[in-house]
Amino acid sequence: MSRRVVTVFGGSGFIGRHLIQRLAKQGVIVRVATRDTEAANFLKPLGEIGQIAPIPFKIGDEASIARAVHGSDQVINLIGILSEWGKSTFESIHVDAARAIAQAATEAGVRQLVHVSALGASAESASVYARSKAAGEEAVKAAFADTVIVRPAAIFGPEDHFFNMFAGLARITPVMPVFGCPLIPKLLLFGIDAPVDIDFYGEGGTRLQPVYVGDVADAIVAILDDKTIKGKIFELAGPQVYSFKAMMDMILKESGRPRILIPYPFALASFWAWFLEFLPNPILTRDQVTLLKTDNVISGELPGFADLGLKPASAEAVLPSYLRRFRPPAKRHLREA
Ligand SMILES: NC(=O)c1ccc[n+]([C@@H]2O[C@H](COP(=O)([O-])OP(=O)(O)OC[C@H]3O[C@@H](n4cnc5c(N)ncnc54)[C@H](OP(=O)(O)O)[C@@H]3O)[C@@H](O)[C@H]2O)c1
Repeated sequence: MSRRVVTVFGGSGFIGRHLIQRLAKQGVIVRVATRDTEAANFLKPLGEIGQIAPIPFKIGDEASIARAVHGSDQVINLIGILSEWGKSTFESIHVDAARAIAQAATEAGVRQLVHVSALGASAESASVYARSKAAGEEAVKAAFADTVIVRPAAIFGPEDHFFNMFAGLARITPVMPVFGCPLIPKLLLFGIDAPVDIDFYGEGGTRLQPVYVGDVADAIVAILDDKTIKGKIFELAGPQVYSFKAMMDMILKESGRPRILIPYPFALASFWAWFLEFLPNPILTRDQVTLLKTDNVISGELPGFADLGLKPASAEAVLPSYLRRFRPPAKRHLREA
């Protein structure tokens, strides 16, 4: 019996390594279409000799995309960016490249395309990122019939940006921001007395429903395994909705770094983001601040984990496994009561 061949675009990234590990365990032949085959070689030991093969491809080079999908049974597109830099714009990566991959998959007679978008993708969003994700979904649906779209919420896991970034920040700063709180403490603004019972945090800021990277990978594997899933959109989020403040509390608890939480006005966050945007891979952009103004939780109207027979893990269950390394050395081996 011939082995299934799956091409993964963006497979060297955060979700990619977890997904490829699972595909390799199933005996699938995995092609990792990447800009840098040398850098993607770290994936090879996840499978048997010759089972995982990085292959070169370039956005805009249609022949290289056609080579990457040729002979594949299934294709997964994990390519995405959080901020624009040079020629890598949201339009070029989330829309044009996604369309080109979908078109190539159609021409190559690929059986199934799984396109990874994002929770909150919407043509009406104020965020350019979220609008480009929505436009990308439309482009792939038009180019490949029955594309399966996956919309993950903010993802946590050992290599995540979000939780690691805030846990790292807590190591160097005595105060941590809480985005999306309606009140700015008068104290901070004018240096005058605030009422003792002031509700500094309101409802705790923007609400998010983070999902574990391993669960997202399991969901993609389940979709690939089920030939009856066609043309659906899956919303993948964790079991729990948290306010921004609740997430900060969780990060500080697990990283053993008690810090003062200050409600952070979006206008100030945008101001700092404007400066940060001069750096490659900025930790915050104005568009991300815009994104943070809206809750990022599932609509409940689309299929999700339950429809794939999966039960996602909570952040409380997973975060201790990798945020422990941010603890001060004396607290690193302490167990929570
Ligand atoms: N992480 C999250 O919290 C999250 C949440 C919702 C949705 N998503 C979406 O899920 C997908 C995968 O996310 P991820 O966190 O695994 O992404 P990631 O690690 O940031 O990147 C995935 C891959 O995209 C490719 N890529 C990045 N910039 C590129 C560029 N300018 N040109 C060509 N390729 C480029 C890279 O592949 P090579 O370097 O190998 O070429 C990279 O490994 C993305 O579409 C993302 O938007 C992620």
